[in-house]
Amino acid sequence: MSTSVPVSPPDTRPVTVPDVRAAKARGAKLAMVTAYDYTAARLLDDAGADLLLVGDSLGMVMQGHANPIPVTLGEMAYHTRCVARGARRALVVADLPFLSYQVSPRQAVRSAGRLLKAGAAAVKLEGGAKMAAAVAACTAAGIPVVGHVGLTPQSVHQLGGFRVQRDADRLLADAIAMEAAGAFALLVECVPAELGERITAAVGIPTIGIGAGPGCDGQVLVFHDLLGLNDEFRPKFVKRFAELGAAVRDAVGEYCREVRDGTFPGPEHSFK
Ligand code: KIV
Repeated sequence: MSTSVPVSPPDTRPVTVPDVRAAKARGAKLAMVTAYDYTAARLLDDAGADLLLVGDSLGMVMQGHANPIPVTLGEMAYHTRCVARGARRALVVADLPFLSYQVSPRQAVRSAGRLLKAGAAAVKLEGGAKMAAAVAACTAAGIPVVGHVGLTPQSVHQLGGFRVQRDADRLLADAIAMEAAGAFALLVECVPAELGERITAAVGIPTIGIGAGPGCDGQVLVFHDLLGLNDEFRPKFVKRFAELGAAVRDAVGEYCREVRDGTFPGPEHSFK
């Protein structure tokens, strides 16, 4: 195990699917962050994120829904186009939204192809053994797939809420099924740390955890959570690396005051 091995050389060579796959054997931890727009993608790429996930969490943090279910394939394609324009080195992975792949493997290939045409290098889909045929069909069509097991937010109603998943036997079987179907990486969400470690040991592909403990081969956080932009949702697994929400409120408050008292715009911001 190594603490600071880069996934691709520290130059600007783009991260590839084989780089991600090989990261596990090299002991290189994968750093993934969600991104939904061009500016954020540029910033995250500059900061060294290995993978940008155009997550269907955009339904919550960008659109204000309670869960990702309302997000459409057209919306995912739009955000993927924006992010892909901003990514230089990071690998762009786009989420297949609810009901864009569950109907049949053929539907999965068509939907995934649309996200690749929008600029993603790979897609992510939720579900384990039950989605193996969809993963296999996409992989056979040349579309790299990241599997997603554990808490799968598109099944929030079936799961009874956003809660830690503890069914170890089923989750291990799901992870193994995703790898066998051709997934090149596996996102593991909200499982006890010990189970995150067991899943990571059970598969040959890298695991990327969110609320799955330090034993995973990489980590992912939602942009708004990582940067402290989201006060409504503060789960235990989120570490806020900045308090940008407070910074935005302070800066905009100052702008409003200056507009009202006439300080802004000053002569330096005005044309002669
Ligand atoms: O949609 C998303 O942002 C996700 C998270 C688990 C990272 O899948």
